[in-house]
Amino acid sequence: MKLIIVKNQAEAGKKAFEIFKEELNNGAKVFGLATGSSPISLYNELTNSDLDFSDCTSINLDEYVGLKPTNSQSYHYFMNQHLFSKKPFKKSYVPDGETKDVAQEIAHYNKIIKENPIDLQLLGIGRNGHIAFNEPGTSFDSVTHEVKLSQSTIEANSRFFDNIDEVPKSAICMGIASIMSAKKILLCAFGENKQDALKGMIEGPITEDVPASVLQKHPDVTVICDEIAAKKLK
Ligand code: GLP
Repeated sequence: MKLIIVKNQAEAGKKAFEIFKEELNNGAKVFGLATGSSPISLYNELTNSDLDFSDCTSINLDEYVGLKPTNSQSYHYFMNQHLFSKKPFKKSYVPDGETKDVAQEIAHYNKIIKENPIDLQLLGIGRNGHIAFNEPGTSFDSVTHEVKLSQSTIEANSRFFDNIDEVPKSAICMGIASIMSAKKILLCAFGENKQDALKGMIEGPITEDVPASVLQKHPDVTVICDEIAAKKLK
């Protein structure tokens, strides 16, 4: 794993942008994208740049079950607002959280990932070491699946909703094996509440109890974090 420690999120956005630019210039066609606050500085850099993704495909990690794309807390909405409306891709996939048939949507999403091997996968990390919505205990062999969100994730994400009861209880999420199949992975993490997750991911044992620890097995992972998040690392 390559670790880049920066002063703040704005600087991280510039570093992450350089990696996206290099991959694009080297012919990458499929970008795995993430939601959450961690990728926002990168998305700002991308939208303010002249990089052209109109010949590329994007595949997002996850979506809440039960939210319409027009719901401001859905990941469809987030991606449109922060990236796609300003920097369109040829085709952008986000799981359909509104589907009446979750199993069918999961099969469909797995097919999309198989047909469009991911060149560069962007990730954030949850406080408990989750990646996408792959909570502790998720099998490293998992592909796209429906996830019951843990109480800590529901609580962490409740800041975006009027009250905690409105936070969806499950999500459709790319699995850990699908994430690991990406050629290159870029993970961004900022702030004090990511210290333990980063330590577990980088220095802890490889265990399904800390989903991100699986990244130690991937040949090409870059982590960009700020000084506060890196504080507990040896
Ligand atoms: C959610 C998302 C994850 C994200 C995590 C951390 O659980 N499903 O993909 O990495 O939040 O979010 P943030 O970047 O806002 O800290």
